[in-house]
Formats: sequence, structure tokens, C-alpha cells
Amino acid sequence: MKRVLLTGSGGFVGARVMAQLAGRLELIPAPRGLMARATESDIARLVAETRPDAILHTAALSDTGYCEAHKEESYRANVQLPLWLAKAAAGQGSKLVAFSSDQVYAGVELHGPLSEELPLTPANVYGRHKLEMEQRVLDALPDAVLLRATWLYDLPGYGLPIRGNLPLNLLHAALHGQSLTFSPGDYRGVTYVRQAVENLLPALELSGGVYNFGSENDLDMLETAWRFCAALQVAPELVPGDRTRNLSMNTARARKGGVVFDDTADGIRRCLRDYGLR
Ligand SMILES: NC(=O)c1ccc[n+]([C@@H]2O[C@H](COP(=O)([O-])OP(=O)(O)OC[C@H]3O[C@@H](n4cnc5c(N)ncnc54)[C@H](OP(=O)(O)O)[C@@H]3O)[C@@H](O)[C@H]2O)c1
Repeated sequence: MKRVLLTGSGGFVGARVMAQLAGRLELIPAPRGLMARATESDIARLVAETRPDAILHTAALSDTGYCEAHKEESYRANVQLPLWLAKAAAGQGSKLVAFSSDQVYAGVELHGPLSEELPLTPANVYGRHKLEMEQRVLDALPDAVLLRATWLYDLPGYGLPIRGNLPLNLLHAALHGQSLTFSPGDYRGVTYVRQAVENLLPALELSGGVYNFGSENDLDMLETAWRFCAALQVAPELVPGDRTRNLSMNTARARKGGVVFDDTADGIRRCLRDYGLR
């Protein structure tokens, strides 16, 4: 069984990796809280002591608003930390699989699903830091796999951390009689996190490079929200907004490596089936 050092085991994705992949991977969670304070030598020591076949790096500062207001903290968490891991992995001969984000595409003016080779200048700090991370990690460790994840979701499960996500926001708005704004000019994929976690198994076998990682979506966010409402059988007021954005990804490269996702509208149906709600 592959020995995998996991960072961010207390986070949204990491906690689900622990719950879902235990038994299929020998998971070694990095001590909780360490990633927020570790130095480069702490990271080197951790990797040397655990001698993993692979490192699965989910720790990050992933709130775009927080990163915008705390650039230095974001730079340490989202660029330096993964780079330290890449250097330590190179020294130890370990594979590194780390999360990037669809926010690297923020500011793109093209329409349609976006591919990995597109030249990018992300419109926010978080996206810029994730893009710099991808490039510097690959320079240090060409065999590293960088996964550009979409917005992820899950329904609440006992003992697992949850964060604001599309179905929860819709359920909350319906329950409290609130309205939500979604724009017909806003395009992005939205992915069921448990399918993303399942896909980390084939992702560990990918050759080095950057991969779009998540559900494709050719629907705009207003239509996507309607589809989720229909699946969830709720009807909050949805107000059309005027945001124009395209983060929608073409996932053909990952698919060739066996990493296959439902499209966004099918993903919510899978999620509801998993929870016995369909
Ligand atoms: N959630 C999404 O919708 C989404 C979408 C696109 C991309 N991503 C990316 O996917 C990965 C996992 O996201 P997530 O939602 O699971 O993240 P998360 O829950 O916000 O945080 C994951 C972990 O990051 C560690 N952490 C906290 N503060 C930190 C700091 N200052 N410096 C370094 N590490 C810190 C903690 O690890 P410990 O538990 O070990 O203390 C935390 O549990 C991230 O790289 C994120 O950028 C997420």
C-alpha cells in the first residue's frame, strides 16, 4: 500500500481524504496546525522522518477574500509552503500531489472551457499565488502533480468540517426566506468533493504537470443554481446578477490519465444518491 503524507487533514478536503481513503492508502496525517507555523526545516524534517512514497498537499489559505487582505500570509501558505514540500519531496524521492485552484483563470476573457496551457495573469491574489506555486513547484520537482480544483461542495456529515458551498447556500436561503444572486454571465464548474477525493487515487499516478481537476460545466451559474435547486427540491429566490467571469475548465488532460468527473449537473445527483436522498 502506498505510504502518503497528508497535509491539511483537519480541513474540508483533508478530513474527507482521511475518512474515505484510509485502507486504500497508508495515510500519515501531518500534525494538525503544523502547516500554519512550520519553517522550511520543519517541513524537511517531517518528510525525512515519514519517508512517504507520496505527499498529498491539501493545506492552504483558501479564502480568496482573506488572501486579498493578507498577502504575506497567503504567499507563505500558498507559494512557500508547497515549494518547501516540493524541495523535501525531491530530496526524498517522493511524489507530490498538491491542490491549485480554478481561480488561476480569474480575469480570462475567453469563452468556453479553458485548458491548462492558456497563458494567465490571475485577477486576484489567491489565483496569482496558486499560479506562481504551480510554476515554482514544477521547477523544483518536474514530477509534481498540480490539481486546479473547482469550487467544491458536500452536505454536512457528522464529525467532518464543512464550509460555505453551493447546495448549502441554496438550502440556507430556502430555509430562511433569503434571496441569492447568480449571474448568467458567470461560468465555473462546481464539484462534489467526495468524487474529487476518490479521484486522488488516479491523480497519484499522473505524470508531472498541471491538471484541471473537477466537474466541467457548460451552464452559467444562474442556470446551475436552478438545476441544484431542482435536485434539492427547494425554491429560494434567485436574482440574476451582472457578474461576467469564466473559470470553466476543460478536463480532457486529466481524463486521459483516468481522472474522470461527472459534469456539474450530474454531480449533485450523485451527492444526493450517496446521502440516500434520491
Ligand atoms: N474548498 C474548495 O472549494 C476549494 C476550491 C478550489 C481549490 N481548493 C484548494 O484545495 C485545497 C484544500 O482546500 P480546503 O477547502 O480543504 O482547505 P481548508 O479547509 O480551508 O484548509 C485546509 C487546511 O489548511 C491548513 N491551514 C490552515 N491555516 C493555514 C495556514 N495559515 N498556512 C498553511 N496551512 C494552513 C489546515 O491544516 P491542518 O488541519 O493540518 O491544521 C487546514 O485544515 C487547498 O489548496 C485549496 O486552495 C479548495
